[in-house]
Formats: sequence, structure tokens, C-alpha cells
Amino acid sequence: MSKRIIAIDGPSASGKSTVSRRVAEELGFCCVDSGALYRGVTWLCLRACPKRLDAKGVLGALARVRPEFFLDARAVRFTLDGLDPWPELRSEAVVEHVSAVAAIPGVREWVVERLRGMTVFGDLVMEGRDIGSVVFPGADFKFYLDADESERARRRLLENAAADLSSVKSSISRRDRIDSTRKAAPLRVAEGACVIDTTGLGVEDVVRIILDKVRAGGFQ
Ligand code: DC
Repeated sequence: MSKRIIAIDGPSASGKSTVSRRVAEELGFCCVDSGALYRGVTWLCLRACPKRLDAKGVLGALARVRPEFFLDARAVRFTLDGLDPWPELRSEAVVEHVSAVAAIPGVREWVVERLRGMTVFGDLVMEGRDIGSVVFPGADFKFYLDADESERARRRLLENAAADLSSVKSSISRRDRIDSTRKAAPLRVAEGACVIDTTGLGVEDVVRIILDKVRAGGFQ
């Protein structure tokens, strides 16, 4: 039987991760943070070829890596060459380079193939930038979460008390610019996606909007 897919896309800090986890929990689906895989590839390259974060160096490292995917409390996690990159995925070095690495077409092909393979784990809520447009254009439901930039910066700041508002804001707008202007699978609203402006909404408000829509569409 084909697996049910809910795609949740949107820019940095639009609330996708928390909302996706909660929607998956309510529906008993597995949850996939596709950005974590781009961050993991960046982490790998910073270890394997720190002086060569160009396409050739990055694709060389990817050709050699052995990824393993597994479920941890219904979230898809992975190791790369047996190592757990999770604690490092939000480090400054990864954050600085991830948008450039994610813009390399060969990286995107590698990641997209693995994301599509994750249906082996079951029905999925997958969040990212191109899930509804490229990874699963036939997803059962597509959502695009947005929020104004100041609100997104404030949310990121709550996750990282050591940062300051203006540097968080400039990091978010730099990543948004790279993510939405790159040639390969730029961030955009997928055809047929329901756009939710989450500015001023709490996590549970957004979860409720999504659940109402998917339940009205037959998901229980
Ligand atoms: O969602 P995030 O902040 O963890 O994403 C990290 C980076 O990966 C971000 O620069 C955008 C990129 N990304 C992407 O290009 N496509 C996806 N499906 C998910 C993330």
C-alpha cells in the first residue's frame, strides 16, 4: 500500500519542525526533518574536506559515505559512517555553510533520493523547502508555513539564548536569500499548497489548522 505523505515547507524558523513533530504525533505518522540531512552532509564535509567545500569536494565525500537511517521516537534519524552528527547539526560552522552545500545540485539529488526512500518507515510528515514541489509533488497534503522575519528571528533566539537578535536576523535573511534564489529546487510555494501565515499564532494553533484540514480530507 502506498504511504501517506504530508509535506510541510517554509523558510528558516517558520515553525516547521515543532509543528511537524506535533502533527506526526497526533496522526501516528513518522516525522522527517529534511534540513537535518542537508546539515548532516555539511557536517560530514566540514570533517572530511574542510578546505574543499566546493561541489567537487562535497560530492567526493558523499560518494564515500555510508548513511544509516533509523527511527527514534517516530522521528527518522541517521548516522554517517557510524557517527551521530545530531549534536553538531546546529553548530555555527554548519549553519554558516549549509545553504551553500544545499545549493549544489548533486547534493540535492543524493538527499532527495534518500528522502524518497524514507517511506519504508511508514506514513510521513516531512518538512523542508522543496518537499511539496520536488521530493513528493504528489503528497496527499501540502502546507507552506510562513511568518514575518522579526517573528522568525525571535523564535530562533528563544532556541539559542547566547545569540543576539540582529545577528540571528541577518543569518536568517542570508539563508532565506540563498535558499530562495538558488537554481536547484529554490524555496517556493508548491502547487496546491495551503499557505499558513503563522505570525502571531502559537504552535498548537497551527497544528489545529493542519489537523482540521487533513482530517476533513479523510486522514484520521
Ligand atoms: O530547515 P533547516 O534550517 O534545518 O535547513 C537547513 C538548510 O537546508 C537550509 O539552508 C535550507 C536547506 N534545505 C533545503 O534546501 N531543502 C530542504 N528540503 C530542507 C532544507
